[in-house]
Amino acid sequence: METLFRGLTTHEHKTSGNKYSAVSQDCTFIIFGATGNLSQVKLIPALYHLDQAGKLTDGLRIMACGRRDWGTDGFLDKARSWVAAKARGDIDPITLEKFCARIEYFRGDLEESAMYPRLAAHLHQQGQSNLAFYMAIKPQDFGAVTDQLSNNKLLDETHGWRRVVIEKPFGSDLESAQELHQTISKRLEERQVFRIDHYLAKGMVQNVLVFRFANLLLEPLWNRNYIDHIQITHSEQLGVGSRGSYYNESGALRDMLQSHLMQLLTLIAMESPVSMAAEDMRDEKVKVLKSIRPLQPEDVHDHTHRAQYATGAIDGDSVAGYLEEEGIPADSNTETYAALKLHIDNWRWRDVPFYLRTGKRMKEARSMISICFKQPPQQFFKGTGVDSLQRNWLVLGIQPEECLRIEMTVKEPGLEMLTRATSLDASFADSDARGTDAYEDLLLDVIEGDQSLFLRWDEVEWAWRIVDPVIRAWAADDETIDTYKAGSWGAIKSRRLFDNPEITWRHSLGPD
Ligand code: BG6
Repeated sequence: METLFRGLTTHEHKTSGNKYSAVSQDCTFIIFGATGNLSQVKLIPALYHLDQAGKLTDGLRIMACGRRDWGTDGFLDKARSWVAAKARGDIDPITLEKFCARIEYFRGDLEESAMYPRLAAHLHQQGQSNLAFYMAIKPQDFGAVTDQLSNNKLLDETHGWRRVVIEKPFGSDLESAQELHQTISKRLEERQVFRIDHYLAKGMVQNVLVFRFANLLLEPLWNRNYIDHIQITHSEQLGVGSRGSYYNESGALRDMLQSHLMQLLTLIAMESPVSMAAEDMRDEKVKVLKSIRPLQPEDVHDHTHRAQYATGAIDGDSVAGYLEEEGIPADSNTETYAALKLHIDNWRWRDVPFYLRTGKRMKEARSMISICFKQPPQQFFKGTGVDSLQRNWLVLGIQPEECLRIEMTVKEPGLEMLTRATSLDASFADSDARGTDAYEDLLLDVIEGDQSLFLRWDEVEWAWRIVDPVIRAWAADDETIDTYKAGSWGAIKSRRLFDNPEITWRHSLGPD
C-alpha cells in the first residue's frame, strides 16, 4: 500500500527502531551531474547509508554520469571521501567496498546528442530492466535532457519501469513552470515524475500529520474559533555561499517560500484525507492551496515584506553583506528575507492569518511552526485584565530540535493569585528514531515507486499561482530594498504585516 507515512500502517519501524520497513527493488540508479555538490553532500552518502542499512538489493547498480574525465576509479576515490565526510558512526571498510562495487562512472556531456545513444547501448548491455534517472543538474536543462532520454527510448517502459527525479526549482514563475511541465508531460506520465521537496521527508514534518490525525485531542481546537494566527518560520545562519549566481536569480521567495514553507502550510491547514494513500494526501494539500486568497497587485505591499542582509556578525564572527558575496551584482535587489501574510478562505480557516517568513544570515538556524490561540473571553483573576493573560501557544520545532511544546497558564505557588506560563514539552529527536537524512527516505521511495513525499504537478502549479503576483509586483518595484543586519532576526519592518500590533514574530521554541 502506498502511504505517506509508513509508520501509520505498520508498527514495524517502532518496534525495530528502524525507520524503513521496505527493501528496494533491483534497478540502475543513474545520476546526471554526479560530480557535483548534490551528489557529494546528499546522494552518494544517502545511497551508502541505505546500503549499510541493508535496504538495497544485490542487483542495485549506481551509474554516476559526469563530464569530467574521472573514470570509475577516480569517481570511487571521491565517493569514499564523500561518504567519510557524512557517515554516521564508524565506516566498515567491507560495507564501503561492497557499496563501491555497485558504482560505475560514465563519462558524457548531457549537451551532446551523441552521448545518449552511447548511454542507451551501455545500459542495454547491462540488461537492467528498471531505471531511475536523477537530474542533479541545472534546472534549465531538465526539459532538454528528458527529450533526449525519450528520443533514445530510455523512457520506454517495455521492460521494467522508468522514473525521473527532479529537484526544485520547477520553473521560476507560473509561466515557466507550466512550460517545463508541458515538455516533461509529453514524455513522461505523472507517475514517473518524482519532484523532490526534501522538506517533506524531514522527520518532524512527517510528524505534523501524525500529530494532527492520530490524536483526537486537538481537532476541536484546530480552526478559526480558537486559533488567532499561525506563524511558519525558517531561518538560517548561512549566507548564500558559493550559490550566489543561482540565488541571485531566485531569492528567498522562490527558493524557500514557494516550495518548502508552502508545503508546511498545507500540512498544517489540510483537512483529514480519505486515506493516507499518496493521491488522497496530495488531493487535500491541493485543496488548501486552491483556497488561499489570491493576492491582488494592490494587496502585495500590505501582505509582503522583503529585505537583504547587510554586514553583521554571526555568533561573534563578522560576516559580509549580501552585496559583497561572490557572484552578486553590486546593485542586486534580490531578497534574502521574505515574509508573507496569507489567508485561507475556507470554513476552517477564514480570517486566520498565516504568517510565513524565511531568511538567510539570521540570528539562529531554526524551522518551526507556531500556533497562537485566542485570548480567553473573560478574566476572572484579581488585578489582571484579559489582555495581560498569556496566550496559549502550540509550537512545533522542525529543526534543529524536533519537538512539540504547548504553553499553558498556571497559578504561581503561594497565597496570591498570580499566574505564569508553563509548558508541556515533548521532544522527538531521539537518536534511535531519527538520524537518517531526508534524502535516504526519498531515494528509497523512488526505488519503491512511492510518490507520497514528492510533489504532484498541480501542487507546484498552485504554489506558483500564490506567489506569482508577488514576483511580478516586486520585479516592477525599483525602490531600494530594505536591509537587515546579518545575525539579527531579519527585517524589523516586516512586523507591519501583523494585524494585531501587539503581536510579532515568535523567534524561539521557549517564550521570547
Ligand atoms: C534548499 C534551498 O531547498 O533548502 C536552500 O535551496 C536552503 O537555500 C535549504 O538553504 C534549506 O534546507 P535545510 O534542509 O538545510 O533546512
